[in-house]
Amino acid sequence: MRHLLDVDELAWADIERILARAARLRDDGKRLRPGNLAAGRRVALLFAEASTRTRLSFEVAARNLGAETFVVEPGSSSMVKGETLVDTVRNLDALGFDALVLRHHRAGAPWVAARYFGGSVVNAGDGWHAHPTQALLDLFTLRRALGDLSGKKVAIVGDLLHSRVARSNAWLLAGDGAELWVCGPQPWLRGWGGPQVNEATDLVAALEGADAVMGLRVQRERMRGSALPVDEYVTRYQITEERLAAHAPRAVYLHPGPINEGIEVTREVARGPRSLVLEQVCNGVPVRMAVLETLLGGETVGEPAEPVAADPAELQATRDLSSARR
Ligand code: CP
Repeated sequence: MRHLLDVDELAWADIERILARAARLRDDGKRLRPGNLAAGRRVALLFAEASTRTRLSFEVAARNLGAETFVVEPGSSSMVKGETLVDTVRNLDALGFDALVLRHHRAGAPWVAARYFGGSVVNAGDGWHAHPTQALLDLFTLRRALGDLSGKKVAIVGDLLHSRVARSNAWLLAGDGAELWVCGPQPWLRGWGGPQVNEATDLVAALEGADAVMGLRVQRERMRGSALPVDEYVTRYQITEERLAAHAPRAVYLHPGPINEGIEVTREVARGPRSLVLEQVCNGVPVRMAVLETLLGGETVGEPAEPVAADPAELQATRDLSSARR
């Protein structure tokens, strides 16, 4: 395992190894202490899009492993003078970083970075495309809450169109045997469906008997003509305690954050006893420690990356990007 670009590039054996290692780290609970598994390794964090949870938990995770972390602030880097992502990555490579954790508003950016960076690139969220460590920590959280996911019904509700979290989760959760439902207004279901994913515009159909409901943020900043009036969304799709009690009384509630309380979910649910939202945040550290440990311990770190021609994920990401621009 050289990079972590998306979950569908991982072997299931790697996924299980990462989750098992995260479980051992998590079971240490508050006793998670800085160690030296990655001592002397240097991790650059380049977040060209806002983040609280992902950036901080990667930083905590890297430091817990004994690595040194260096935050590249795009707003005070030479990117504001017009330096491209490729040139920035080439310079980070020349400075000898072992890993680059990259969040970027352009789908496919981590695949591009991986061509020019000799160490390991970790995708911390690219455009609408993928968010692999979020999906790994969501699977980890769901398994801890529900046990084996085989046959468990998981409903992902909300702004599916713009959700990198949902795209990575769909592959991972369906691959783990969950009965996966995606639900939202029709325009936001564009590009969804397929043999392992049930689609619904009717919230009751998605919620009925669900073991877990995952809310998604309504990403108004990404909407170009796909916006729905907020009051209509709230009326038809907001996750409320009444709706859960009526249709999914056992369900736990997850949300990757940040949450628009009062839009996609009520405060009562988001902060109530079913909510695993802060558990997800907490689990982000051991899961990202396990990812970084795997990458930084790899024997191939330091080898120059081979150019990847016509990578299907990047081609898809490029299509996502052009439709985002339209
Ligand atoms: N879940 C998530 O990606 O949150 P941040 O944008 O705060 O990192």
